[in-house]
Amino acid sequence: MTIHPNLNGELGAADPVRLFSAPVPRYTSYPTAPHFHDGAHGGVDAAAYRGWLGEIGPDTPVSAYVHVPFCDRLCWFCGCHTKQTLRYDPVQRYLQVLHREVELVGEAAGKPLKLSELHLGGGSPSMLRAHDLAALGETLRRHFDFTPDARISVEIDPNDVTADTVEGFKALGMNRASIGVQDFDPRVQETINRIQTFEDTRRVVEMLREAGIASMNIDALYGLPHQSLESLEKTIEQVISLNPDRIALFGYAHVPWMKTHQRMIEETSLPDIDARYAQARLAEQKLRDAGYVAIGIDHFARPEDSLARAADEGRLRRNFQGYTDDPCEVLIGLGASSIGRLPQGYVQNIAATGNYMATVERGELPVAKGIVLSEDDSMRARVIEWLMCEFAFSAARLREAFGAMAETIIEEADARVAADTHGFFRKQCERYVITPEGQPFARTIASWFDAYLGRGKARHSSGV
Ligand SMILES: C[S@@+](CC[C@H](N)C(=O)[O-])C[C@H]1O[C@@H](n2cnc3c(N)ncnc32)[C@H](O)[C@@H]1O
Ligand code: SF4
Repeated sequence: MTIHPNLNGELGAADPVRLFSAPVPRYTSYPTAPHFHDGAHGGVDAAAYRGWLGEIGPDTPVSAYVHVPFCDRLCWFCGCHTKQTLRYDPVQRYLQVLHREVELVGEAAGKPLKLSELHLGGGSPSMLRAHDLAALGETLRRHFDFTPDARISVEIDPNDVTADTVEGFKALGMNRASIGVQDFDPRVQETINRIQTFEDTRRVVEMLREAGIASMNIDALYGLPHQSLESLEKTIEQVISLNPDRIALFGYAHVPWMKTHQRMIEETSLPDIDARYAQARLAEQKLRDAGYVAIGIDHFARPEDSLARAADEGRLRRNFQGYTDDPCEVLIGLGASSIGRLPQGYVQNIAATGNYMATVERGELPVAKGIVLSEDDSMRARVIEWLMCEFAFSAARLREAFGAMAETIIEEADARVAADTHGFFRKQCERYVITPEGQPFARTIASWFDAYLGRGKARHSSGV
């Protein structure tokens, strides 16, 4: 989470931190995934998705996300959809099915779609063997027209990476790496079951740079068990010394009711809300002092990086991978549990790997659920995205995009401004603005415009 330097300590008072830290979604989509339904319950089924794919124009640039739900280790903090496997054959069988899914999507689209952005996430796609990475690239290239400047990124667990893996990355055409660090402190690492030395991480960063992969992101976490201001400060210094172009600084989301392995983490070892807040603030200050620009609530980038430029020019977007400068209106999800976004709505694949595989093997698109966006959904999604990306939205832009419907949001925003005794959300001319002091609480302020919040059984992580 990003905390603005202008705070200068005034917000040390615990009250707003507590008040604004109630659990809320991370808003990587709106409506959020717990509000997706299957076809029988008014949501999205394979037939509807097939129709949406067929409507994509041949010149529409699309993004693709490929999910690899396997890791060769299981970190206890992990909130991702993955499972540990010490053998490679389940991974190989999954990959065969993934190739088939790419074919099915290509057939439904009816033409090769223009691909400008590809992201492999997980899990740990870095555990794929070189020839499998190359083969996946070949299948994708058979069914999609990659633009010459396509951005191809992979999430990397440094513990996986060998010279062979790097060859596979090159064959895939990877030009961006996203490296998981989390924390370098040995005690923290032991408690989260993720041992990873700084030296090994540096070796991987150097290998990737030598292979010509210039763009690098590092993920770090605050709010982890036994993390202190001192240990976090050291980790952040070590991360900075690796000189990544981007850093994602996430607050640890403790959701043991969803991720039962998180029960391995003693709750008493977790920093409380005030400590999390102080950690986020310290890390942000260190990153700013090192020349990074804060992007949205939890990303940092070198000023010359394309993400920082996008933020500067009002082109920053938010999707399932977090902040992005990817302007595509179509995101195609591939692999178990992956989520796609098309102008008509969201669609999510079956999460259970076995069921996902069986469905694709029958020649069916493995759709589990989704949501058709109403006009109100699309408008609220845009408002929430503006608040998460720009900490503001303009009433004029909203009216321009949504006409008379915009008045609903404007009325809600006026009421929120009037009720906000902390002054975190203000009206400045025709703009509704989250003040620098309110920016750490952007998720909570965005949630004021979420028409679904409180409906259903979804539980979320802390808003700070
Ligand atoms: C798929 S993982 C990263 C790739 C690779 N498997 C690794 O661990 O290095 C994506 C990122 O999600 C973040 N993440 C995972 N679990 C989280 C949680 N419970 N709370 C916050 N961030 C989390 C971590 O920073 C992690 O690097
Ligand atoms: S953090 Fe990465 S390596 Fe660890 S379990 Fe999660 S996805 Fe796998």
